[in-house]
Amino acid sequence: MVKIAPSILAADFGHLADEVARVEEAGADLIHIDIMDGHFVPNLTMGPVVVEAVRKTTHLPLEAHLMVTDADRVIPPCIEAGVNGILVHIEACPHLQRTVQLIRDRGASPGVALNPATSLYTLDEILPEVETVVLMSVNPGFGGQQFLESSLGKIRRLRALLQQRALTPPIEVDGGVKPSNAPQIIAAGADILVSGTGLFHAMDYKLAVTRLRGSSVGASTG
Ligand code: DX5
Ligand code: ZN
Repeated sequence: MVKIAPSILAADFGHLADEVARVEEAGADLIHIDIMDGHFVPNLTMGPVVVEAVRKTTHLPLEAHLMVTDADRVIPPCIEAGVNGILVHIEACPHLQRTVQLIRDRGASPGVALNPATSLYTLDEILPEVETVVLMSVNPGFGGQQFLESSLGKIRRLRALLQQRALTPPIEVDGGVKPSNAPQIIAAGADILVSGTGLFHAMDYKLAVTRLRGSSVGASTG
């Protein structure tokens, strides 16, 4: 079954512990934490201090999505603060293999993320070494953006590529994922769906998680 990773960027930060508890209760599988440095992307968000706070509120695995220029500097404090997985951008890591090894050496699971305009060819060498591949379905920097339809073809092509090479990292899709488009994204081959506004702006988190998983229960709009 597809996994659901709520992006806390869309949560109510005044009640972050409650928000995390509510999505855990709703059946989320892991928590996605968007770390932005105002340099790689035009926005500033959170860092290890928030990771540490979230770590205390949940038993769910935490993944840090690093949208930062200097990932190698941010990785150790994030892992010390309690993340289980680190997702780095292929566009931001000139020595990607070293960065992936750093994540592994520090005891976390390495994943790579690709911006919408970044070709799947860039994965060629690193693919056997990563435990997750994230396809961005928006240009990173902000929550609440529109899902780019061209991502569906890219998900299908990555699924075929993994099959050809007999590799099994899950395909994670991040950006603009909502109950309304989740079935198409899952059909294209996604294993993990990140959802920020599609989940935290819903009235009923449990229903939203169920609908994101592609179940027809309660599906209408959204
Ligand atoms: C975008 C972030 C996403 C974002 C998802 O830069 O990486 O994780 O928070 O939010 P929604 O689901 O609202 O697009
Ligand atoms: Zn993200």
